[in-house]
Amino acid sequence: MSRKIHIFDTTLRDGEQVPGAKLNKRQKIEIAKQLEKLKVDVIEAGFPCSSPGDLEAVRAISREVKGPVIAALARAVKEDIDIAWEAVREAQKPRIHVFLGSSDIHIQKKLRSDRNKAMAMAVEAVKYARSLCPDVEFSTEDGSRTEFGFLCRIIEETIKAGAGVINVPDTVGYALPEEYGDLVRRLRESVPALERVLLSVHCHNDLGLAVANSIAAIRNGADQVECTINGIGERAGNASLEEIVMVLKTRSEIYQTKTDIDTKEIYRTSRMVSRIMNIPVQPNKAIVGSNAFSHSSGIHQDGVLKDRTTYEIMKPEELGIKQQTIVLTARSGRSALRHRLVELGFSLESELFERIYNRFIDVADRKKEINAQDLQSIVEIEVSKVPETYKMHSIQIMSGNKMVPLASVTLEHDGKLYTDAATGNGPVDAVFKGIERITGIPGTLRDYDLKAVTMGTDALGEAMVRVEFGEDIYSGIGTSPDVIEASARAYLNACNRYFANGGGATTKSPDGVGG
Ligand code: KIV
Ligand code: ZN
Repeated sequence: MSRKIHIFDTTLRDGEQVPGAKLNKRQKIEIAKQLEKLKVDVIEAGFPCSSPGDLEAVRAISREVKGPVIAALARAVKEDIDIAWEAVREAQKPRIHVFLGSSDIHIQKKLRSDRNKAMAMAVEAVKYARSLCPDVEFSTEDGSRTEFGFLCRIIEETIKAGAGVINVPDTVGYALPEEYGDLVRRLRESVPALERVLLSVHCHNDLGLAVANSIAAIRNGADQVECTINGIGERAGNASLEEIVMVLKTRSEIYQTKTDIDTKEIYRTSRMVSRIMNIPVQPNKAIVGSNAFSHSSGIHQDGVLKDRTTYEIMKPEELGIKQQTIVLTARSGRSALRHRLVELGFSLESELFERIYNRFIDVADRKKEINAQDLQSIVEIEVSKVPETYKMHSIQIMSGNKMVPLASVTLEHDGKLYTDAATGNGPVDAVFKGIERITGIPGTLRDYDLKAVTMGTDALGEAMVRVEFGEDIYSGIGTSPDVIEASARAYLNACNRYFANGGGATTKSPDGVGG
């Protein structure tokens, strides 16, 4: 009989702690709805006391997302717990997740306290949370570096106080798989009360062992794993959800466990999180990287053509990576495009379909064939578009190895065309400056990433930027067969997000050439 492993997704909380990946309410809801389709057991939707915006976002997710438990994080203090409860009280299945440092390092250096006081604080916080919410999780932060006797006692006492889930995190990614597996086994042997609750683990990836540690913990009796899509999270990240799920599925004969995850939603979820949070997935990333199912050496290609199992241990279809059935080109009509979109799992209302069709024709005019990844990228960008205060009309670049690059940019704003030109340190810099001269909003580029969506010299380029406007950072994404245009579209997307968030446009009728 397979044992069920509960998948606790913390992309929207620990994942969101990645610098610059802060999400707004709409973006959080979009990801939460996709996590619901993925069938995670728990969505940790945020840390509501961290900001009024996060409280609002967690509250909205609690109202709109049914199915998974919706958890909110709280420090072991009454005020945090009250706010966390405020955020999740309308959820179908609410959970308050209380945490407190339990290692001596955390107790003495961070909390400036002692074990007795920490114990009292944890018990009181769990009791209080339990008086509000029937489902309370308690995390022994830095659990893997906590003295074992104290760890057992704090777990026993917080279970008595009403915790239904006990989480023992490897907060700093210090543990080794044998050690962490052993810790879980010893806890099960030493704390009989753990039989009445769920035992959870939460691993960070500082030594690249987060997934291995989570799997070792499952092998030794953990019931729940806390993880994130694409392994994003604080510092080196958290354990990757897709890797844990596929290890358990691919090697089920060893682990004898099952999850409720709909693996066919994995690829789409990974792409969505990467796009919305603007965190690219490394090409060689297990399970969801762009190279995960591509075979380049002749021997491997020959083997895969004869039988895929020679070099593939999972089927791309299991992850929702669809194989091509018809080839789309600029001559493909609306019905071929619609057919392909349905195959890829997109059912779109007509206004959005028209926008996607127009963009598809624009790209297909310049690229011979549009494959699944190209289409996915086009759709995702159109779906997530904010209102376009400024629309791309055209760009022209003059660049060479012996000249200062010059970009001429034309944008549409309020039905009028605005053109300006700028020089820059490179063609991308020049085009960004050209945009800036038209919008009148100075931005500082904090991050820039460009990748080919597919292989080949006519590949669709996908640019991601993070731009600081005023005190906030806005992400933007753009695609085009022309990498400068993809970059310009990404920058414009970030500008439009800024405007959608209340920033003002100050367009004049500019005509000079800026440096
Ligand atoms: O890493 C950690 O210990 C955490 C806790 C708050 C669960 O994120
Ligand atoms: Zn964490």
